Amino acid sequence: ASLAELDTTVPAPNRQQDRTKPAEASPVDAFENTPDTDPSLPANRVWGRDILTRVAESRLGDDTVAASILDSVEALDAVIDGATAAGASWGSLSGAERAVILHRAGDVLERRRADLMEVMASETGKTLDQSDPEVSEAIDFAHYYAERARELDHVDGATFTPAKLTVVTPPWNFPVAIPAGSTLAALAAGSPVIIKPARQARRSGAVMIEALWEAGVPREVLRFAQLADNSLGERLIAHPAVERVILTGGYETAELFRSFRPELPLLAETSGKNAIIVTPSADLDLAVKDVVASAFGHAGQKCSAASLVILVGSVASSRRFRHQLVDAVTSLKVGYPVDPTTQMGPIIEPAKGKLLGGLTTLGSGESWLVEPKQLDDSGKLWSPGVRAGVARGSEYHLTEYFGPILGIMTAETLEEAIAIQNEIDYGLTAGLHSLNPAELRLWLDGIQAGNLYVNRGITGAIVQRQPFGGWKKSAVGAGTKAGGPNYLIGLGSWTSAESTA
Ligand code: ALA
Repeated sequence: ASLAELDTTVPAPNRQQDRTKPAEASPVDAFENTPDTDPSLPANRVWGRDILTRVAESRLGDDTVAASILDSVEALDAVIDGATAAGASWGSLSGAERAVILHRAGDVLERRRADLMEVMASETGKTLDQSDPEVSEAIDFAHYYAERARELDHVDGATFTPAKLTVVTPPWNFPVAIPAGSTLAALAAGSPVIIKPARQARRSGAVMIEALWEAGVPREVLRFAQLADNSLGERLIAHPAVERVILTGGYETAELFRSFRPELPLLAETSGKNAIIVTPSADLDLAVKDVVASAFGHAGQKCSAASLVILVGSVASSRRFRHQLVDAVTSLKVGYPVDPTTQMGPIIEPAKGKLLGGLTTLGSGESWLVEPKQLDDSGKLWSPGVRAGVARGSEYHLTEYFGPILGIMTAETLEEAIAIQNEIDYGLTAGLHSLNPAELRLWLDGIQAGNLYVNRGITGAIVQRQPFGGWKKSAVGAGTKAGGPNYLIGLGSWTSAESTA
């Protein structure tokens, strides 16, 4: 298709904010972040309740999931060959032509916002206050990467050749925004995509993919693949036709992928063990609010979550912060997302292994400031836990748990607090609560993390404004920050004009 044949009128995001009204149509010519749903509007509360009435019976995405199961080497190879072949015509579209389809994808995602929120609640237990911004982020990725695709047409002195095939392996905890972001980036860069969604979040991934197909991404160019066993996963990652793998998951998974294929062209965003430092100059009321939201939003199941709070000087020695923290944590309403009053939802699977240990076992010198309790027989519903007395170098200090637990550490000085965070192998997000500019400068110069947040929570990066990516063991491979200006350039190869001349 040429640009002339495509309808370039794209509805703008629903800026009037009433989700029960259709979006206004206007051409998108510059990127603007999509607003989240405003729950203060009565119409939006009705809209939200309506989503919740469908959650228990939700079957969205089922058909796409059923149709995508690959159970043999032959079936997998056929998908790899088919996507690679179809990708040639996708890659030969100009960036501007691909941008039209990506903007449409953003529009369809907006139109299916309620469906996406329904399936996330049904499948992964995500509450609406968490899933709504996730849909906004997916929409932002579509419009943002569309504009970056256009730029690939106009790089002086160099030609961009898209990867011939990209494999996307997203996690279950952001089952719409992360697969959407990775997939839309690869598509914007002109590469066909095989996406293998997380086992726990296939239906959510399926509804997102359906939206992209509906927007005009050819089904052969964007393949959704459930692999019947692990050997097929290894075959997919190791396949020489695969020129990029975008992984979001644990550091161990990135290492496993590398063991399948040492020279794997990997862009991986991996684990985190993130801390918020609170100094005596901080607004403590704000700090408590942001620590609680960062630690217990989505029951702590975010790579970006705050797993530690490091209290400095008099914040550590006085009782005020701890008292307020206990009050805030114990007042969180824990439940399932179908109850609109739920503030913290379930964990994705019954707690076991490391997470169960984190919820039930204390290290030397630690005590429960708030003891987590299992609230029903499912093993998924736990009240939040806060452990005090976490020692430097202890297991809790250095390990990612990925659940509703927060540890408190103390430091005499900000320098010591920074050293405590930097001893951790990971470097994904970090927060500082301080109203002192000299402390801010010290922290910015010293802290080792990819995403830094001052006087706010440390989750919920925003496309274009806060591109997201890690440092140290929180990133593996050649990735730059997702939702940032340079993400697409790693998704293909560059030839200088001289060498092609
Ligand atoms: N991008 C997600 C966040 O910032 C992980 O919380």
